[in-house]
Amino acid sequence: MSTSETRFQVDHRPRPAGLAIRTENLSRVFQVRRSRKWPRGRRVVALDGVNLEVAEGELFGLLGPNGAGKTTLIKILSTLLLPTSGRAFVSGIDVARDPFGVKQRINIVSGGESGGYGILSVRESLWMFSQLYGVSNRIALDRIDRMLKLVGLEDDAGTLISKLSTGMRQKMNFVRGFLSDPDVLFLDEPTLGLDVTTARTLRKFVREWMAERPGRTVLLTTHYMAEADELCDRVAIIDRGRILACDTPASLKRQIARQAVLRLEVSSSDGAGLSQADLARLKDQPGVREVAARWRPEAGRTVLTAILEADGAIPGLVGGLSGLGLVVHSLAKEEPTLEDVFVKLVGRTLAEDTPTNNGDHDSRNGTLPGDGPEVGVGGAGDGEAAAGGGAADESAAR
Ligand SMILES: Nc1ncnc2c1ncn2[C@@H]1O[C@H](COP(=O)(O)OP(=O)(O)O)[C@@H](O)[C@H]1O
Ligand SMILES: [Mg+2]
Repeated sequence: MSTSETRFQVDHRPRPAGLAIRTENLSRVFQVRRSRKWPRGRRVVALDGVNLEVAEGELFGLLGPNGAGKTTLIKILSTLLLPTSGRAFVSGIDVARDPFGVKQRINIVSGGESGGYGILSVRESLWMFSQLYGVSNRIALDRIDRMLKLVGLEDDAGTLISKLSTGMRQKMNFVRGFLSDPDVLFLDEPTLGLDVTTARTLRKFVREWMAERPGRTVLLTTHYMAEADELCDRVAIIDRGRILACDTPASLKRQIARQAVLRLEVSSSDGAGLSQADLARLKDQPGVREVAARWRPEAGRTVLTAILEADGAIPGLVGGLSGLGLVVHSLAKEEPTLEDVFVKLVGRTLAEDTPTNNGDHDSRNGTLPGDGPEVGVGGAGDGEAAAGGGAADESAAR
């Protein structure tokens, strides 16, 4: 949410402890305009009957690949978008019936967002934002300085927003999310595209912030499985608008602990990656549950993740690889990660693409059919909620 004319007073009156977030059969459909590829237009089901419960005080992660529906869910919960059907509650308040009541208790940070007034400096913009939320001057200035230091922007407090790089702007947005001291904070891919050290600092800060006042709740989305694993109390794995699993990271990993997870690096003599047909043949080997591939162009190799019923299936898999004319460079048995849980659930990887500066993703690793960019997207007049801000729908313009 960006700045708006409305002044939100954060309401910290004590309420009975309970669920910070609850959704009931929540669905959202986008009607995509006609285009050459889709002459009759088409419906995109971004969320498909999502039931979710997040307790107060939880650091909850939504983990899923691009296009899974994570941002759509966050937008509905933060009243920027209306559901097509189903209901959603934040702090017990229905987002569709009382969006203002919800807004008083929340804040939202989006990784790819570029809000703010270009003519203001970083500190001025953050101060203005804190005033819209009714934070006292002294507390606001103290918080701003403390947080700018934390994200390494203290020397840029006086820089105009229009002069900030994408990464700096993202750090500023992160700071903004905490200024109003919300009860429920939505972090939509907060570390997207940031360097490793900054990302680690932000994760540490989120944990500390949660510990500072019990009852604070964070819903974080990410497609970095390590982030979800390291940070979250519980994780919901989401793909194509559906929640596939929801548990603590440890329990999710335990689900597949008895199976063998193998990581292999292979290459073929013609230097090409594996085709879908190759993968299908490998999956047909006895004892092989799932195989997913990630093409590494810089090495000319493919990294395979194979989930086997037991170690006994290893020779068969290796035989299958040589049958396809592939050379195995390395083979290691690994502790299961959340990514492996994802592979087991959906049969492909989380597409650990390299984020670029503009937040775009490159998912061309040959394993993600149908995950290309959307064409001819029409968002306007599509049930957008009155957001009171300009940051409502960056995806509508894609
Ligand atoms: N405004 C929109 N108009 C049409 N389709 C949309 C719009 N916003 C999102 N979508 C589609 O809905 C699906 C879920 O998108 P999104 O919630 O942004 O996923 P994620 O945040 O997990 O990457 C995608 O297929 C996306 O293209
Ligand atoms: Mg998103």
